Amino acid sequence: MEGELIVRKIKDGTVIDHIPQGKALLLLRLIGITGAEGYRLAVVSNVESRKMGKKDIIKVEGKELMGYEVELIALVAPTVTINIVRNYEVIEKRKISPPRIVRRLLKCPNNSCITNNDPEATSEFQLINQTPLLLSCSFCETMLNGEQVVKQLLGE
Ligand code: CTP
Ligand code: ZN
Repeated sequence: MEGELIVRKIKDGTVIDHIPQGKALLLLRLIGITGAEGYRLAVVSNVESRKMGKKDIIKVEGKELMGYEVELIALVAPTVTINIVRNYEVIEKRKISPPRIVRRLLKCPNNSCITNNDPEATSEFQLINQTPLLLSCSFCETMLNGEQVVKQLLGE
């Protein structure tokens, strides 16, 4: 409802709904959507939500999100609902949750960790807590928090 006061319904694509307030632009950067791709894109921030107080919404017309993009979003914003829209109808509504094990995506902050020294070893983290996000290296148990995850994913 709320978003529609600002942005109309889309025909085909993805609506990322129930984003924590103020996080929409961060999520777009994480999945690498810049606007230059040519998708018709709407970002609605800080609108009223019955469930969350305030929320953000992203609408991407002409693109259905890939599995790995959904996983990235799930890591940093587990409250999100991904709606796949075809011919104006929501044909799939995905409540997402972060993966319990995150492989190959993140780097262990511990320089002496085997994953940073053995070229054959791939990184692996266990999900310790969802909100706030906390991961633990499967090899050396070094912790990685949400802020560190976001920095790594944005290449900062
Ligand atoms: N939406 C859209 N274009 C469509 C269909 C839906 O932009 N053609 C948007 C709606 O505006 C809403 C979201 O997709 O922000 C989910 O739509 P819908 O499932 O119809 O809304 P709700 O039932 O309110 O969703 P929920 O129960 O997940 O809050
Ligand atoms: Zn480690």
